[in-house]
Amino acid sequence: MGKKVSVVGAGFYGSTTALRLAQYNIFECVVLTDIVEGKPEGIALDINQSRAIEGFETKVIGATTTADGAGYEATANSDVVVITAGLPRKPGMSRMDLIGVNAGIVRGVAENIAQHSPSAVIIVVSNPLDEMTALAQLATGFPRHRVMGQAGMLDTARFTNFVAEKLGVSVGSVKTLTLGSHGETMVPVPSHCTVDGVPLSEKLSSAEIADLVTRTRNGGAEIVALLKTGSAYYAPSAAAARMAKAVIEDSGAVMPVCAWVDGEYGISGVYLGVEAEIGSSGIRKVVETKLDSSELEELKIAAEAVRAKQADVQSL
Ligand code: NAI
Ligand code: 2OP
Repeated sequence: MGKKVSVVGAGFYGSTTALRLAQYNIFECVVLTDIVEGKPEGIALDINQSRAIEGFETKVIGATTTADGAGYEATANSDVVVITAGLPRKPGMSRMDLIGVNAGIVRGVAENIAQHSPSAVIIVVSNPLDEMTALAQLATGFPRHRVMGQAGMLDTARFTNFVAEKLGVSVGSVKTLTLGSHGETMVPVPSHCTVDGVPLSEKLSSAEIADLVTRTRNGGAEIVALLKTGSAYYAPSAAAARMAKAVIEDSGAVMPVCAWVDGEYGISGVYLGVEAEIGSSGIRKVVETKLDSSELEELKIAAEAVRAKQADVQSL
């Protein structure tokens, strides 16, 4: 049987993710769901009509769902599920301001997914990301390696883009890394940044690097402020789709993702942004990388900040 992926939430993030996944042409079908009647069916029809032009065969199936779980049969036995359901930020809001309402949404979605796709790998994107990932694991009861969150791929891509633009070089020549939370305690890691293999610190002054680090940390808010309604989705959907592809292809690609940390960096018992090897079982292993002492300190601070909030979501 061909591979099946479901994307829950047919808003900006979900619909662009469904399109990217379909265009990979590696899935038998992409199921797109939403609680707004007709929205996922309409988007699916539109994407399917692009197949003859773009040359892909993967079929997109739209399904309206209800809070009591009707409609989830369409997602049954998915290999991967991307959860994008939830409200995005408005200008001036932090991701954390979304926690109450999005927790209710993500819990309900996760329970329905667990019932219909008990073997799936889940990729969470709803905000606040680290907390919603922890909640999805709790609500599904899935092993922790089968539930991960998307943030680091996006934050790293933003950092890379800023460095490339600053230096006027191709994005392909730049390597960057961000760890920690998808929020205030994001940890951009300049010591792992290179341009054509040359350390970033030999290309830019520490003040210039600090500016790019700050811009990366505020990368989501910068776009929210410009859009005025809604948040980013082109780069975010590229990130989630690549993660789903790595799962389906059992590729072993190492990516910065939100994963359960169990002793790495001296940190245990928390979902946190780290590099991890991705395969068909989800997170094959967390890949621990050498950090300088201030970066390690920042990662530990991020872990404690996220741990406190993840404890709160248990009651939401
Ligand atoms: P959006 O408002 O365009 O779409 C959200 C969709 O979820 C809506 O169509 C809504 O009807 C649907 N929805 C609500 N409750 C649902 C339920 N119970 N079941 C199924 N669908 C439901 O928002 P957008 O831009 O798509 O963002 C989605 C989420 O992703 C937000 O929480 C946003 O903050 C987050 N996000 C996370 C990023 C990350 O890096 N992790 C990056 C960008 C956005
Ligand atoms: C972003 O980083 C809002 O989390 C979303 O664009």
